[in-house]
Amino acid sequence: MKPIRTPVATQALGAFPSVRLRRNRQSQWSRRLVAENNLSTGDLIWPLFVIDGEGRREAVPSMPGVDRVSPDLIGQVAEEAMELGIPAIALFPNTDAALRTEDGREAYNPENLVCRAIHAVRGRGLDIGIVCDAALDPYTSHGHDGLMEGDEILNDETHAALVKQSLVQVEAGCNVIAPSDMMDGRIGAIRGALENGGHTNTQIMAYSAKYASAFYGPFRDAIGSSGTLRGDKRTYQMDYANSDEAIREVALDIQEGADMVMVKPGMPYLDIIRRVKDQFGVPTFAYQVSGEYAMLAGAAQNGWLDGDRVILESLMGFKRAGCNGILTYFAPKAARLLAASR
Ligand code: PBG
Repeated sequence: MKPIRTPVATQALGAFPSVRLRRNRQSQWSRRLVAENNLSTGDLIWPLFVIDGEGRREAVPSMPGVDRVSPDLIGQVAEEAMELGIPAIALFPNTDAALRTEDGREAYNPENLVCRAIHAVRGRGLDIGIVCDAALDPYTSHGHDGLMEGDEILNDETHAALVKQSLVQVEAGCNVIAPSDMMDGRIGAIRGALENGGHTNTQIMAYSAKYASAFYGPFRDAIGSSGTLRGDKRTYQMDYANSDEAIREVALDIQEGADMVMVKPGMPYLDIIRRVKDQFGVPTFAYQVSGEYAMLAGAAQNGWLDGDRVILESLMGFKRAGCNGILTYFAPKAARLLAASR
């Protein structure tokens, strides 16, 4: 396949001194006029961590400024997101250790933490997008995204669990299923089940190019799977040496029925975002993951970086790379900064 976009001419159109690129940069109004990309609050998805209980909030130590909250408080947070103009939230549960099993069956309990959080948001009548993962890792005793037999992560056998998980989440009121498990063929399996179940309008945001990354560390702390994860995820998440393979992953997910695709992590993978957008021109998202958040938030907390400025700069980088939107723990902060800069 050929790229859709045509590359700009490689030779300069003119020469110094008639050409002076600094002319357009000299004032704020002019910089705004010639800006090639725009970052707005409408580009943001806010990932949230859910814990059991009521009125409960606790900090995630490796993610300064991020809390896990109980389902009732998720309702309040969703209201805050609405007020800030953030279009969607993504929910991730920290499941009680006693409910984690070999087969992760809590994933399709219609009363699980995620479903209760969805109810809290829907109970307030909020017209906000709710994105839920399809993956078993918050629910398995071994911390893997799929079912296990010995040391193997089972591919096809995992589909049925992901389908059941997707259906309970959709029935609870989630709008977007985001499969983050990286089993082959799971988009097709979930799409088929949604069609058969009459959920023809449920969107799928596929974690298509998801790399086996050490940048997920703080997320695993947040959902409580760091301690339990047996081995690593390299037999299903992508090898970070690869780029062409990401194109194949995205192509398959689009064919299988994904409405939106995602590249993850974000900042070290901007080249992949650009390739995906050029090749397919479909709605493309990046996840600025927990480790990226921790780097920036940690450095800002220490006074080593100007937090406000690096947040906006890093998010604009995703737009420049070709993203339609970004999942980021900085979403509320970024929304406030963008509102103040107008
Ligand atoms: C799990 C999942 C992960 C993230 C989102 N869904 C972690 C993993 O694959 O181990 C990572 C998000 C982050 O690091 O912020 N299926």
